[in-house]
This record gives sequence, C-alpha cells and structure tokens, in this order.
Amino acid sequence: MTLNKFVVTGGNPLHGTVKIGGAKNAAVAIIPATILARGKCVIDNIPNISDVTQLLKMLTEMGATVRMLGKKTVEIDTTHLISHTVPYNLAKNMRASYYFIGALLGRSHEASVYMPGGCNFGVRPIDQHIKGFEAMGASVEIEQGMINARTDELRGVHIYFDVVTVGATINVMLAAVRAKGLTILENVAKEPHIVDMANFLNSMGADVRGAGTDVIKIHGVDVMHGANYSIIPDQIEAGTYMAAAVATGGDIRVENIIPKHMEPITARLRAAGAEIEEGDDWLRIARTAGPIQRINVKTMPHPGFPTDMQPQMAAMLTMARGTSIITEGVWDNRFKYVDELNRLGARITVDGKVAVIEGVEELTGAPVKATDLRGGAAMIIAGLVARGSTEIEDIVYIERGYEDVVEKVTALGGDMKRVIVPEVELSKAL
Ligand code: EPU
Repeated sequence: MTLNKFVVTGGNPLHGTVKIGGAKNAAVAIIPATILARGKCVIDNIPNISDVTQLLKMLTEMGATVRMLGKKTVEIDTTHLISHTVPYNLAKNMRASYYFIGALLGRSHEASVYMPGGCNFGVRPIDQHIKGFEAMGASVEIEQGMINARTDELRGVHIYFDVVTVGATINVMLAAVRAKGLTILENVAKEPHIVDMANFLNSMGADVRGAGTDVIKIHGVDVMHGANYSIIPDQIEAGTYMAAAVATGGDIRVENIIPKHMEPITARLRAAGAEIEEGDDWLRIARTAGPIQRINVKTMPHPGFPTDMQPQMAAMLTMARGTSIITEGVWDNRFKYVDELNRLGARITVDGKVAVIEGVEELTGAPVKATDLRGGAAMIIAGLVARGSTEIEDIVYIERGYEDVVEKVTALGGDMKRVIVPEVELSKAL
C-alpha cells in the first residue's frame, strides 16, 4: 500500500463537462475473453485504470502479444498463448482474474487461477461459477489457494443459477461459447456489461442470444476469430460524477454515456431533487435550486439501483434535508465506508444491511481512508462538499476503477490534488 493521498477541498459546485470512460466491469471481462480468439482483437474505449493494466500484464505473462495503439485502444493477440496459469502475484488483488477460468476452459480445457481477491464486502463465494463449470463436465479443485479446472470435453447444459450473479453469468458464458451443443443459462444477471460481453463474444464468432433477459442461450462453436470492438461507457463512473454534481449544487454535462443505462440512477437522483436533461449520448444534471430531498434507496441487480453506486449516494444524502434510508440488497457487508463518512461529520447508523442517514447542515474536512473502490469515491464526493480539506488515504482502491479522476474533478472546478509521498518519507514512515 503506498502512502499517496488525495487532498480534496470542499466548497466549489461542479460545473462544466466530463467525458466518461469505458466500463470497468465490462473491460475486466472482455480482456480475458480475448483468450478465446485465434487472431488479433482490437479493443477500443479501454478505461485508463490499474485493473486494466494488471489484466494486460497477466495476458502478457501468459504469452499474449499486447500493444497499446492509443491511450484507449489496445491490440491483443492470444494466438500463441503458452500458459494456462494465472499466477498469485498478479491475481491476488483482483476479483476479475477469475474470468480467466471460463476463458481458458473454453480455449484449452484447462485453467489454474489464484483465488480471486478484490474489494472486501464480506464473503464473496464463487460456488455458482463452479456449479456451472462442473455441470459442463469440468472437474474443479481448490489447492493451496489455486483454482484448478480441467476437462476432456465441455458440453452444453441447462443451468439455473441459485442467485443472480454477474461474475458467474459471464464466467460460464465464456466457457459455454466453446462447449459442444446448446447451453441454457437461467436466472442470469442482466447488467449492461452482460450484454456487452455477449456482443463481444458474438463479434468473435460465438452464438449467444438473450443477454439482457433472464435466459441466455448459447450454441457452442468450434472456432472463434479476432474482432474489433468498442467497450460501453461506464455507468458507475457517470453516476459518480452525477451524484457529485447534485451533492455540490452544481450543473454538469456528462458525455459519452448511454442514457438508457443510467435510468436506475437518474430516477433516484431526480427524486432527490436533481434536474436532468437527456440527449443521445449525454445528459445534463443540475441542482441549482433548493436542498437535496431525503430519499430511500434499495440496491438490487439490474435493472434495480446498482450496488456500485450505493456509497456515492450515501455521501450525497449526508447533505439531504431529512432522513434517508439505504438498503443493500446485493452484498452482505458494504457499509465499511460509513465510519469514514462519520469522521467528516455525517450522521449515519448501520444495522445489518440498512443504513439510516440523518441529513446534516455541513461536513468538515478530516483525514479518511478509501475502504474500497466505491467507498473511496464516496470520500471524494464528501470531500467536495466538506468545509476545509479532506485527505484520503489508500487511494490505490480508487485508481483501480476511476480513470484520470483528479484531472476530471479539477476540470469540473473541484479542488482536488494527488499528493505523492516521496520514497524517503515513505521508508521513514514504514
Ligand atoms: N454470489 C454467490 N455465489 C457466487 C457468486 C456470487 O452467492 O458464486 C453472491 C455474492 O456473494 C453477492 C451476489 O451473489 O451477494 C452478487 O455477486 P456477483 O457475482 O454479481 O458479483 P461479482 O461478479 O463478484 C461484480 C462487480 C462488482 C459488483 C457486483 C454486483 C466485477 C469485477 N465486479 O462482482 O463491482 O458490485 O458484480 O453488481 O464485475 C465495483 O465495481 O465496485 C464492484 C465491486
């Protein structure tokens, strides 16, 4: 963990235009999926975040040729992959490394991947992924932290997922595109990145239908080829800037988005008093008159309100008039950031999966931590409204998922700096 920090000084309403990057949770699935292609894939609208850099490193170590063609475009050729192992040192901090299991099983019937890390929201099981792989004929063993999966043949099957899971839906799709025969997946996740993944697989020659509904049907194919593909915009990055605009009483234009993907978020922000105007690939959001209204929010799988926007909404609602209630409907424990918000003067109590947020007159800057990626985004929003300066530690979490965050906030008129703690000072501190 580095000691680099963000320092955010509150008080400036956000104004201007922000351009949203490619969707993190689509990119982290699409990059491992290139393993299924024989030939070059050119992926555009890649977000400039450390999770992407890490996945590209993993591919390179496995023998792929990876070339950046521009800041947002990468060419990946996995034709001469030499390894089906994803090592501990690269996989340990990243949840999405588990997509290599499905992709490698699909390509070479064999995968060894270190058990996924990632943000800690209590137990993060992968039983539904394993259930899917086993149903398709793979044996899956966990030994010394490695997940080893192998099979002689992958066969199409009918799988009903016991819980709605983004990860298992994508992972099982990755294997099923190369299985023999028809796979039917029921009770699947419907997030925009599930549809993006299916579109990408189809652009490589797969036959996936129904993504975005509760049932996905996949006819296995023998060969998949390279493709050119552009990743969808990041719904959560866009939502984060929207919540920041409402929290600060600003007026911003959010560009390079798909307004339809934003609906679960825009509906709740409107209820909280935001004025929102939508165009083809942009929206304008403002709160120029009146206080933030109290609202209740319950997170649910898509098309419900996304759990990945929950901490940012909480940060915004600390400034609402009245008491708001947030219920977390996806993860067991996603309120670790609340203690940090309370350090800034928020009044939030948590009981299990429910947070009660009593609106306050003002927040005051203080040193806080990013407890995880979205918890870190909540600290930035709170810092932008707080009186004085908020120092945010453990920013590595934030940099895993938000591209150029300092530049984007600053361009919107927010006062935010990245403070690099010099190495000498770092070694003294340790
Ligand atoms: N679950 C199981 N068994 C499984 C898999 C999941 O019980 O085999 C449960 C989980 O415990 C959880 C629920 O199902 O309660 C949903 O989990 P899901 O599998 O959908 O989550 P994930 O794939 O691990 C992705 C995103 C998360 C996001 C969730 C929910 C990636 C890399 N991560 O995680 O994103 O919160 O879907 O939408 O795509 C973030 O971006 O900040 C983030 C954490």
